[in-house]
Amino acid sequence: MNRSLQAASLAAVLSLSASANAVTIEVQADRPGADINPAMWGIFFEDINFGADGGLYAELVKNRSFEFPDPLTGWSKISPSLARGRLSIRDDNPLNAANPHYLRIESEGSAPFGVVNEGFRGMGVRKGEAYNFSAQVRRTDGSAALRIELYGSDGTLLDSARLEDFSSDWKTYHAVLHPNDTDAKAKLYVLAEGKGAFDLDMVSLFPQKTWKNRPGGLRADMMQVLADLKPGFMRFPGGCIVEGTQLSGRYQWKKTLGPVEERPLLINRWNYEFLHRPAPDYFQSFGLGFFEFFQLCEDIGAQPLPIVNCGMACQFNSAELCPMDALNPYIQDALDLVEFANGPVTTAWGAKRAALGHPEPFNLKMMGVGNEQWGPQYIERYEKFSQALKQKYPEIKLIAAAGPDPGDDRFKFLWSKLRALNADIVDEHCYSQPAWFLANTHRYDTYDRNGPKVFMGEYAAQSAYTLSTKNRNNLETAIAEAAYLTGLERNADVVRMASYAPLFAHVDAWQWTSDLIWVNNLTVLPTANYYVQQLFSRNRGDIALPTDIKDDASQTSGTTRKPSQLFASATRETSSGEIILKVVNAAHSTTEAEINLETTFNVAGRAETIVLTGATGSAMNTFDQPRKVAPVDSIIQDTSNAFRHTFPANSMTVMRLKPK
Ligand code: AHR
Repeated sequence: MNRSLQAASLAAVLSLSASANAVTIEVQADRPGADINPAMWGIFFEDINFGADGGLYAELVKNRSFEFPDPLTGWSKISPSLARGRLSIRDDNPLNAANPHYLRIESEGSAPFGVVNEGFRGMGVRKGEAYNFSAQVRRTDGSAALRIELYGSDGTLLDSARLEDFSSDWKTYHAVLHPNDTDAKAKLYVLAEGKGAFDLDMVSLFPQKTWKNRPGGLRADMMQVLADLKPGFMRFPGGCIVEGTQLSGRYQWKKTLGPVEERPLLINRWNYEFLHRPAPDYFQSFGLGFFEFFQLCEDIGAQPLPIVNCGMACQFNSAELCPMDALNPYIQDALDLVEFANGPVTTAWGAKRAALGHPEPFNLKMMGVGNEQWGPQYIERYEKFSQALKQKYPEIKLIAAAGPDPGDDRFKFLWSKLRALNADIVDEHCYSQPAWFLANTHRYDTYDRNGPKVFMGEYAAQSAYTLSTKNRNNLETAIAEAAYLTGLERNADVVRMASYAPLFAHVDAWQWTSDLIWVNNLTVLPTANYYVQQLFSRNRGDIALPTDIKDDASQTSGTTRKPSQLFASATRETSSGEIILKVVNAAHSTTEAEINLETTFNVAGRAETIVLTGATGSAMNTFDQPRKVAPVDSIIQDTSNAFRHTFPANSMTVMRLKPK
């Protein structure tokens, strides 16, 4: 054989063996599929893990209104050796009926005497920032002054203020503190100076710097991380707290409006849910109430998705049912919520919204009926809600529950009933190991295209097992979720929305892990899983493009190569004309693939690319190394209608392919 023939046959063998071991990602770029819901990728704010009080709601004083069952929870007596005085919790002539308890401090004047508040596992304060102290005070005897002192965790005085000349009626008094140092675990002292007695209630310390600088508002850093996700919707306020352990503890949105001192406190069910993670000091002050939730959604461009109680308490707890003939008040709450969000200011609830400062409607388009319910009891209640809501507000899409598991008998029962009822959207939940997510990327390929749509309302890959305290937000879980989301995107005609759960967790006070965003009192830590969500929501596109992976190793026997663990989806973004290709490599080694874009337009050679990866599947972000797993932008120069690319191990890649 001559040399050129030899070379030609070697090339043929090489190309044959290459194609025999080829992985091809095929994108039918000229065959536009489903439209992608602009609200496809959203968030689920759940009041768990100190997500609201001690988290997003920026109040630094815990139990500011002395309404916890132990009214001095969070407070301790400060009584230097020379100080003499008495503390008592009273309820005669309270500030208001919703807030019946208050603290009386009686000081004999020998030395400053009073209380210290520990905050939510300390108070995070920053040098250079200002903090508004306020309290309701009523003088009952003498002329003692109030000394407000902020101490750092090492006992250093960070700042102080003095208040005096108190009225004998309840009145709000203010001071501003400027800490001379930053401290994650500061404490607030409230001391009587001199001889006298007074009553204290609604003792508050708030950063002036809040989200949009709203007084009494939300933590700016946590809000910024949410805004950076560009979520299409926000589901709120839970979760199981919507249901309550008993119906008396359910979430009642009407009680969360108006002056904060008139919003009655409620025990947060996550307070005692898990004996292995007790949080006896976890309560709902409702400083973050329904008006604030709607406002938050508006601020970050997320469609509001409130969940209402459907007359069922948590079925993992009491499973208490509201009898069918007593359901009307629950249904009325749901109807009133639509009016509160959307009604003209001439309606009763529209007027209340306007009185709170928002005459414009909040543009509510959907509502969840119940959280994670199941059984025939749910279906009969859902039907009642649906009849009433659809009759008055046919434009509101209703989200129905499918239970806690994505495939058990409860799930199958609910789906069959909800399909028969022609439900709008069914809310599926799944907390499972990464393998489940990888094995279910084709779950929706076979769903009925004419049935109810799907909302993947709660999901998270668990590195250990569901409810294990060992679950970690590592790269492996993030990549498994990313692979699964490619399946949702490819089926965007069926799956209209998705949200990870839970959203926030405080490092010192969590009940549930994994969680999308971890916080301490001063810092916010987005996880690898957060960045997956961000890559999807910021690279959404408007139209799904049919995308398929052809892998010879899974089709040809005798190959020595294992099937690839690539997963892909693609969309087109109308505004830029770009094809957005998302490829997930769940293998622990690099994988090369051929990318074929079946399109009449010529793909430019240069593409913006974003890669999320890390050293190993167990890599994760920590407060010390917050960007160990974070997206990295680059430009690749060799894209065309058909090109090869090597995908890093444990990675998600987004390529924005432009027409020439
Ligand atoms: O996200 C944690 C909990 O998981 C939610 O409260 C509930 O809906 C689900 O069981």
